[in-house]
Amino acid sequence: MKRIAVFASGGGTNLQALIDAVDKGEIKNGKIEIVFSNKADAFALERAKKQGIPSLYLNPKDFKDRQAYDKELADKMNSMKIDLVCLAGYMKILTGGFINNFNGKIMNIHPALLPAFGGEGMYGLHVHEAVLAHGDKITGCTVHFVDCGTDTGPVILQKKMDVGNAKTPEELQKKVLVYEHAAYKEAVELFCADKLVLEGNEVKVLK
Ligand code: GRF
Repeated sequence: MKRIAVFASGGGTNLQALIDAVDKGEIKNGKIEIVFSNKADAFALERAKKQGIPSLYLNPKDFKDRQAYDKELADKMNSMKIDLVCLAGYMKILTGGFINNFNGKIMNIHPALLPAFGGEGMYGLHVHEAVLAHGDKITGCTVHFVDCGTDTGPVILQKKMDVGNAKTPEELQKKVLVYEHAAYKEAVELFCADKLVLEGNEVKVLK
């Protein structure tokens, strides 16, 4: 059984999708042990509490720098023997120290088909705004392992969808989230079933 931590800064619909997938047995070999946030008022923390999942908030102001913050976080994850960290709308850039400590064990979900519409500044509604401004007909989401770049880590899986008649970033975000929820639980279950093999920058998915 893999021990999962979910990091979230906002509403946490992806967190909820993972909670539901564990409950329904769609994620068979994993358990969410902790939900962490850098925001005291993140609704994701409420979701955790409602579900009886331990939660943790660390106030960035209590630490001298990002390194010290992430060191405390890494120590906590190590002490809990966490096997997988799922970033689900976690809006704080992780330091290299944290990432190297958990190489191949941190996943992120991005609301576009990377490498398109990724990188600095491409988060939240900005992504969907950019997709619409570019006139793309297809978009989707990407689950990837996290490396030290922004949205550059090895891709685990992607789901694509038609932009269709979505006219506003909000409309598009709502449509993409449905695909995100499906993609994230699938990727996490593959990890938990030991079906993901990371070879350099490529992720092999075992049958
Ligand atoms: C999602 O669009 C995710 O792809 C991005 O941040 C958003 C988080 O949404 N990384 P939620 O908090 O899971 O609802």
